[in-house]
Amino acid sequence: MSVPAASIPLVDLKAQFASIGNELKEATVKALERGDYILGGEVAEFEKEFAAWSGTKHCVACASGTDALMLAFRALGIGAGDEVVMQANTFIATPLGAVLGGARPAFADADAATMQVDLASMEKAITPKTKALVPVHLYGQAVDMDRVNALGKKHGLAVVEDAAQAHGAKWKGKPVGSFGDVAAWSFYPGKNLGAAGDGGALTTHRDDIAAKLKLLRNYGSVVKYVHDSFGTNSRLDTLQAAVLRVKLRHLDKWVAARRAAARRYRELLGGIKGVVLPPECPVEEHCWHLYVVRVEERDRVLKQLQEAGVGAGIHYPIPCHLQGAMREYGYRKGDFPDSEAMAPNLLSLPIYAEITGEQQKKVAEELAKAVKK
Ligand SMILES: Cc1ncc(COP(=O)(O)O)c(C=O)c1O
Repeated sequence: MSVPAASIPLVDLKAQFASIGNELKEATVKALERGDYILGGEVAEFEKEFAAWSGTKHCVACASGTDALMLAFRALGIGAGDEVVMQANTFIATPLGAVLGGARPAFADADAATMQVDLASMEKAITPKTKALVPVHLYGQAVDMDRVNALGKKHGLAVVEDAAQAHGAKWKGKPVGSFGDVAAWSFYPGKNLGAAGDGGALTTHRDDIAAKLKLLRNYGSVVKYVHDSFGTNSRLDTLQAAVLRVKLRHLDKWVAARRAAARRYRELLGGIKGVVLPPECPVEEHCWHLYVVRVEERDRVLKQLQEAGVGAGIHYPIPCHLQGAMREYGYRKGDFPDSEAMAPNLLSLPIYAEITGEQQKKVAEELAKAVKK
């Protein structure tokens, strides 16, 4: 049976456009008229605003979150022969960023209780070749950055935060992306802060890293046609910066709306037998990029939800160490039991700033029906 278009999508970018479309049209038309399409003034403005918003000294924008990770490793001088440690239950872009930077991704398990990286497993994965720890603030929930930074200090390792899913997440009241040596952000359209296409950025307190990133993202050059090193071409389009500047003005309000939606889900879903809710953490610190529950017979439940018009999803069905792309790295089934045990049960429910109580009620009703059978 074909699946109808979801009446309650996983992410609703049309609803977002309906609320801020006029601002976006004005900003993008202005940028088009100016014609400063590459590294135009709006990119620098956005970088200033995003650094201030994320409580960091510098922001350097680039073409995607994947590139941001790759650039972070390159700026730290991490490459061939080096290893970087990350959790197995992340999106493939986290290890891909390391591979593109020339380094070897090494995995740690997740902790089924928090769904975040298990820091004991992270420490076990450290070898003499390890150069950095890569905590991923998965789903929008902050990793314990006190413990990650302590681990980095103990072993003399850099800390690269993967904040691609975490615009608005906080650790003890401070924005994520402001704890490590450098943080990588994605502005993929469905993110809490999303462009109208691909985009990414890095934030850092370190002047040396920011200066290297500016070179690396633009052919190794800050002065036109003068190249001290080989960088790459990874810039945020001026048009995307114009879009992001408009959306950044709304971001805090949108994150607050996601928190309200997460609270509502907790009430609506709390009593449903067979649905494991996301781990308890201070709701105000989570930015609820994804609302991930755990259910038995997930694939059947997902299909039933989709047939009922609920655009649920899976983040992610296969842990990174078991992906075909990783075959030459020698990992095997059983290496990371919690990540592997969670994967078949993960189910992401629709969440976005504009979701209504009625929509969430319908999601809860359909989920209750689906888990009963
Ligand atoms: C955890 C994580 N890291 C990195 C990325 C890569 O970002 P992008 O899609 O902008 O390359 C993503 C994007 O989906 C992500 O979820």
